[in-house]
Amino acid sequence: MKRRTFVAASAALAASGAARGDNHGDKIRLGVIGCGRRGRNNLRSVLRLTDDIQVVALSEVFKPNLEETLKMVPDAKIYPDFRDLIADKDIDAVLIATPDHWHAYMSVEACKAGKDVYVEKPVSVTVHEGQMMVKAARKYDRVVQVGTQQRSGKHFAEAKDIVQSGRLGTISFVRTWNYSNLFPEGIGVPPDTDPPADLDWDMWLGPAPERPFNKNRFGVNPYQYAHFRWFWDYAGGMMTDWGIHLLDIVLWAMAEPGPRSISTYGGKYALTDNRETPDTIQATYEFPTFVCTYENRVANAFSGGQPGYGIQFHGTEGTMYVNRGYWEIAPEVRRYREPEPRVERRMEAARGESANHSTDDHWRDFIAAVRNRNRPVCDIEIGHKSTAMALLGNVSLRSRQRVDWDPVNETTENKEAQTYLRSDYREPWKLEL
Ligand SMILES: NC(=O)c1ccc[n+]([C@@H]2O[C@H](COP(=O)([O-])OP(=O)(O)OC[C@H]3O[C@@H](n4cnc5c(N)ncnc54)[C@H](O)[C@@H]3O)[C@@H](O)[C@H]2O)c1
Repeated sequence: MKRRTFVAASAALAASGAARGDNHGDKIRLGVIGCGRRGRNNLRSVLRLTDDIQVVALSEVFKPNLEETLKMVPDAKIYPDFRDLIADKDIDAVLIATPDHWHAYMSVEACKAGKDVYVEKPVSVTVHEGQMMVKAARKYDRVVQVGTQQRSGKHFAEAKDIVQSGRLGTISFVRTWNYSNLFPEGIGVPPDTDPPADLDWDMWLGPAPERPFNKNRFGVNPYQYAHFRWFWDYAGGMMTDWGIHLLDIVLWAMAEPGPRSISTYGGKYALTDNRETPDTIQATYEFPTFVCTYENRVANAFSGGQPGYGIQFHGTEGTMYVNRGYWEIAPEVRRYREPEPRVERRMEAARGESANHSTDDHWRDFIAAVRNRNRPVCDIEIGHKSTAMALLGNVSLRSRQRVDWDPVNETTENKEAQTYLRSDYREPWKLEL
């Protein structure tokens, strides 16, 4: 009954919304699937690029988010079921900004229907899903851009160039981190209840296991990013929520396809909420010429005077820190006592500021790729590799194994780890090319 109530309400909204006009010139006609916080953030960028792209349709299973988004694009057509949006031949491209557990299925189906895709990060919940997304993009010759928008940040590109120029010397260690403190209650322990009448819970769960509704599993709330992130069925905790953004820059700057081994430790040691993902994690990635770590604390925010998140490249000549606001180089200082005291500093300190709106430019890049049929700056293969690196951090943690990994063929001999590389979909959903 509840599902029917919601679908009927959405249909009524659709009827009251103005019908989509037919004259779009040569603008890319975009359908949006998932109108939550990030969906609307993306829309803000899209709405600044209206000469090239127009939002013509929305699909959303939670009525308050649909209504909020309709205020931004009142003429958009509404599809309560995203499969109808994907089947609409008047739509050229889709934005997929649902929780992570939907990304792979929706992307593959959109490719099959001839749509280009802008899909939010992380691209998937398992490595296998990401592989299927790459195959679908290639098989159906679609442009698939991943929402790791830092790749369109000009100062991130500068930071990458600095690493590749050799200016920092030999880089043997890269550190990435996020710290915060939500102790003790975190997101709380709400009881399981019936789903709200304005949510289609079954369609929110989709390929994920059937579960009673819990406010935190759904997680949409006015104050914070939705809490689905902290449940294994839908996402991968901070490792894949934020870790991917940082590790993506590491793979880019160090020009690596992925690590050759991964060892992760962590657990839920301090928070008393009902999240499943750890509040403390340390992932160590081994590469042929350097070690990279991702460190996350959710119950202690001490950062030793540094910002609470970032990426640090440690080279023999200097160390570069980079975050979304700037990059900064601290030279190595060598002090000698003999034969006489002297201090050697072989490079100058330097700093560069963020100089563009990375999400706007990520969309510009997507639009150009759709028009020119080029690979976008964060093509699905790149987004998949970065997602896989983050996912593998969780695979090591959950399997309690050091995972030896072939980053090119994306395989491991480790049997315990293999069980975490793919998961079964709930009927009737099937991930097929
Ligand atoms: N690139 C970035 O910097 C960035 C920032 C934040 C979030 N994200 C990513 O964006 C995605 C969404 O995150 P969010 O915080 O906006 O979550 P959210 O829960 O606020 O929004 C997701 C929306 O998708 C809807 N949805 C779920 N199933 C659906 C279905 N079958 N059909 C249509 N709509 C459906 C939900 O009801 C919800 O409104 C996540 O994958 C997240 O990792 C990226």
